[in-house]
Amino acid sequence: MYSEKVMDHFEHPRNVGEIENASGVGTVGNAKCGDIMRIYLDIDEAGVIQDCKFKTFGCGAAVATSSMATELVKGKTVQEAMQVTNKAVMEALDGLPPVKVHCSLLAEEGIHAALWDYAQKHHIQIEGLEKPKTDISEEEEEEDY
Ligand code: FES
Repeated sequence: MYSEKVMDHFEHPRNVGEIENASGVGTVGNAKCGDIMRIYLDIDEAGVIQDCKFKTFGCGAAVATSSMATELVKGKTVQEAMQVTNKAVMEALDGLPPVKVHCSLLAEEGIHAALWDYAQKHHIQIEGLEKPKTDISEEEEEEDY
């Protein structure tokens, strides 16, 4: 039920770890499943993401999506990184089972939270970026009804 790419990123996750003195750090969680993700970004003076690392206390799909998301944002500008949505991550992984879609949302939220932290520290605004929610479960619950 998982694509080969998902299995590959789950078994050999890229960019696991942390960045000391990161330009931006974001931590997000989903209260429903209890999974937590932290994303670190190293952004240079031109606003290009030089490095990105993550730590996930979460399920296999959360590991695979954060691994792919960190790969996708590397080398991009902060503005371009906004295009790394959960959809883009899922496409890059050749899809996820429907019950695992929320896990990919955690990766998108984590990147947004780290970008938000960077923007706050540098007093800049990133178009389309909103203050991150640290708990994405509320929205899901609304959708359930
Ligand atoms: Fe919670 Fe996957 S089950 S992130």
